[in-house]
Amino acid sequence: MGSILRPIYLDHAATTPLDPEVLEAMMPHLRNDFGNPSSVHRFGQRARAAIDEARAQVAALIGARDSEIVFTGSGTEADNLAIVGTLEASAASEAARTDLVTSAIEHHAILNTAKALDRSRHQVTVAKVDELGQVDLHDLEGAITAATALVSVMFANNETGVVQPISDVVRLARSKGSLIHTDAVQALGKVRLDVSSLDVDLLTLSAHKIYGPKGVGALYIRSGTRMRALVRGGSQERNRRAGTENVAGIVGLGKAAELARVRMGDDARRIETLRNRLEGEVMEGSPGLVARNGSAASRIGSTTSLSFEGVSGEDLLIALDLAGIAVSTGAACAAGSPEPSHVLKAMGLPRARVNGSLRFSLGRNTTAEEIDRAVESVREAVLRLRSEPSSAR
Ligand SMILES: Cc1ncc(COP(=O)(O)O)c(C=O)c1O
Repeated sequence: MGSILRPIYLDHAATTPLDPEVLEAMMPHLRNDFGNPSSVHRFGQRARAAIDEARAQVAALIGARDSEIVFTGSGTEADNLAIVGTLEASAASEAARTDLVTSAIEHHAILNTAKALDRSRHQVTVAKVDELGQVDLHDLEGAITAATALVSVMFANNETGVVQPISDVVRLARSKGSLIHTDAVQALGKVRLDVSSLDVDLLTLSAHKIYGPKGVGALYIRSGTRMRALVRGGSQERNRRAGTENVAGIVGLGKAAELARVRMGDDARRIETLRNRLEGEVMEGSPGLVARNGSAASRIGSTTSLSFEGVSGEDLLIALDLAGIAVSTGAACAAGSPEPSHVLKAMGLPRARVNGSLRFSLGRNTTAEEIDRAVESVREAVLRLRSEPSSAR
């Protein structure tokens, strides 16, 4: 039945489709313009000019200077660079600050990088979050000391969409003289981000969450921030990220950033209305049996995390996939693995609620008809699974 209808993609927090305009901008660099941007001749110059333009487009989206944007191979790499690059540079400087403070709901790109740090050189403190999915500011304040080199707290969470109190985080970090990094991968293109008014030192972004290609990201590094390269080699990206640039990918990120800047206002309003319709109707369909996870007052407009009582999120995901609706149980990398969400666990939600959770994330191309069909399918699947006692956990 579902197979005749076009599948409905409600997993934009995992990745987004490539915008046709982005593909068009990338094509010349996959075909004829193959030059190495480091080459002096005209082939190289064309590639260099394309990268320069992309850098300006990305900088414009976040209010940075062009020279403050470093292209990387992913959002994950940008997160790694932010943490390891600043901690190593800081530990080697006269200030000799060595420590990292982060939060329990960060993406694994942050948490596993923090875990891999040499504990004899760097102390890592992970601040708690409250039941609404926001970092606990008291805990964070207590964690930041005179030895804290970097505080890293994400802008918006990838599972719940909850926006963190970044201005408070910045105030606390600044009061102790620490650098501040925010992973804005899930917020970019959905919320206006201006690095000057945010007053952050480092900000991570990724192309494939804003209708750009996979395998390219960027790190905003405030001018003057001490940083050691993670990938060492040639002098590309002003010695901050070696390796011949992914020209087509970078051009794609630049175009996606430009489109996001132009379309953000309209897209965000329309998507939020649809998200609220989906959430409202799913909750209405099963009064008292569906709970929203995370703050409704402070979150991006495209995502909702819902927990279904008496149903396993994994079973529901599979049932919906069979009906042609693509959703997720949480982070893309956690999907398919039986690990329960570290984000919902950190919020202190009971196990059954964590296991019964599902993330819906809408995008630029989501339509009202798709939302209505998705609501119908969710209601049907939940009713069916509830009647099968083996599904409940
Ligand atoms: C919050 C957050 N940070 C970082 C990343 C990693 O970005 P990338 O997929 O480009 O490595 C993701 C991707 O899911 C994310 O959601």
